[in-house]
Amino acid sequence: THVGVILVAAGSGTRLRAAQPKAFVRVAGHTLLEHAVARAFEAADTTQIVVVAPASHLVEAGALASAHPRAADVTVVAGGAERTHSVAAGLAALHDDIGVVLVHDAARCLAPAGLFDRLVEAVRTGHDAVVPGLAVADTIKQVDASGQVVATPDRSTLRAIQTPQAFTRHVLADAHASGVEATDDAALVERLGTTVLVVDGDELAFKVTTPTDLERAERILGG
Ligand code: CTP
Ligand code: MG
Repeated sequence: THVGVILVAAGSGTRLRAAQPKAFVRVAGHTLLEHAVARAFEAADTTQIVVVAPASHLVEAGALASAHPRAADVTVVAGGAERTHSVAAGLAALHDDIGVVLVHDAARCLAPAGLFDRLVEAVRTGHDAVVPGLAVADTIKQVDASGQVVATPDRSTLRAIQTPQAFTRHVLADAHASGVEATDDAALVERLGTTVLVVDGDELAFKVTTPTDLERAERILGG
């Protein structure tokens, strides 16, 4: 069964405060979108990438993708107002032969191919939902609306979750059919009662959110 990557790039990048949507910001000479597409195609089994772009940037996204040698395997569609809507738009554009789907943030543009491969492998060995996670360095506290601490979960049980997140296609489709919104796709799958496995994430899969993150990406790429 073939592997498709839904690359969500339709956000505006409010926290980055750049002149254009985040995925179209350049680091080391290329847009975050191009870096992400390149890594997703370096993964062993990727047969299709669906780039979900802002409606205002469909032509630009297509032009960037067309520079890749595997441009024929890229589909560009318009995203929605919330990330969940953008993923759903990507799902609708997957080829019929795709059985495993990776949902990935274009903003995590340095996530390495090996991470994609590890997630696909875990799905192929029988897990319906697999996400990358890192141990958290800070103590995390749950607070109420007034800022008072409600609980301090044992840090050793916590993971900071990244993308790509890997699913069998039918599980992801069922999760999205619920119409609920969430900040990641695994949360929708959890609501169905399906078990989600966390495997080792990768520091390079950090999300470019603020200008400081962009500098970090630039440094890593030798800029
Ligand atoms: N995303 C999307 N559609 C949306 C919102 C987000 O495709 N309606 C994508 C972003 O393009 C990004 C990923 O989801 O690749 C993670 O979202 P985030 O880092 O929050 O990006 P933005 O929403 O663009 O940034 P901000 O929240 O700072 O505005
Ligand atoms: Mg956002």
